[in-house]
Amino acid sequence: MAAFPFTIAATEGRARTGVLATPRGEIRTPAFMPVGTAGTVKALTVEQVAATGADIILGNTYHLMLRPTAERVARMGGLHRFMRWQKPILTDSGGFQVMSLSKISKVTEEAVTFQSHLDGSRHVLTPERSIEIQADLLGSDIVMQLDELTSLPATEARTAEAMRRSARWGARSKAAFGARDSQALFGIQQGGTTEHLRGESAERLREIGFDGYAIGGLAVGEGHEAMVEVLDYAPEMLPPERPRYLMGVGKPIDIVEAVWRGVDMFDCVLPTRSGRHGQAWTWDGPINLKNARFAEDDSPLDEASAVSASRDYSKAYLHHLVKSDEILGQVLLSWHNIAFFQALMAEMRAAIAEGRLETFRRSFRSRALASSD
Ligand code: GUN
Repeated sequence: MAAFPFTIAATEGRARTGVLATPRGEIRTPAFMPVGTAGTVKALTVEQVAATGADIILGNTYHLMLRPTAERVARMGGLHRFMRWQKPILTDSGGFQVMSLSKISKVTEEAVTFQSHLDGSRHVLTPERSIEIQADLLGSDIVMQLDELTSLPATEARTAEAMRRSARWGARSKAAFGARDSQALFGIQQGGTTEHLRGESAERLREIGFDGYAIGGLAVGEGHEAMVEVLDYAPEMLPPERPRYLMGVGKPIDIVEAVWRGVDMFDCVLPTRSGRHGQAWTWDGPINLKNARFAEDDSPLDEASAVSASRDYSKAYLHHLVKSDEILGQVLLSWHNIAFFQALMAEMRAAIAEGRLETFRRSFRSRALASSD
């Protein structure tokens, strides 16, 4: 019996909408998880994040183990209490961040050893230690297995080797996690852009048996077309009765294409990171508030939004804040962008329930691709 019942309420083609029920609340799927890397969704209070309709946020083992340390978070009552977010939290396992952020890393069958990007200190992460940090010290609701990624470009042999090691680490993660009913463990499919490696990875993960299945190793520079090609086959290799999570994705257009192909969960730094750089996501694609054409534009970003950042502030004012490098500009654009991503997911959930996702996808694509920024 998997932890967390997953109920699919409606499907359209390969797309699904439903609910993943956790003890800390329901996650409506398809779901977008704002990224709260270091115990904060950057620039936003938890009340602002909750007001966007987010059911779950993501935290990072890598950042929190280095600072303030997982032990300190545990002493402060766990990550939910420490950061005052009482809804579900998914934590990533650290492997991906070690590869992309740490100074030097070395992977052996036993562990990944790396130097902190903060102070150069040396750390060792095993699959077992990652589970201990996530499940026991941070108190995450959805725990990710430790995986190994290859830096691109990679040969097929190297991609296969990392995929098989990830599967062995998946088995060790499962053994360390044991059986729990108030926390879930997700496995991570690897295999790059090679179909038979994705198939082998999925088979190995299904044999181990997880509460959910992530698709990893995408959005690492392969481009939209290559990613969509993988999404044409990868989600269907994973058990249909459990949630599927596409890690680190992505742009709204990527998310729409992935939902269409059967993905249920997403996370990405894009809405908050681009918000801090003056970019706002809209139904007509991204716009850059620095652009002089907004200097006297009195209209809000989205007058239909439930969130004041999107509804109550003029583009002219946002333009002024961004041009003046004011903190409030970063806050309002991060808030707006998270709200937009949540509105996009809500729209897709409704569209699947009403059997009009295909129509929505077509019109979203043409509006988003026609945008000028
Ligand atoms: N975040 C984005 N992609 C990945 C991945 O492949 N593995 C992990 N652990 N995290 C990710």
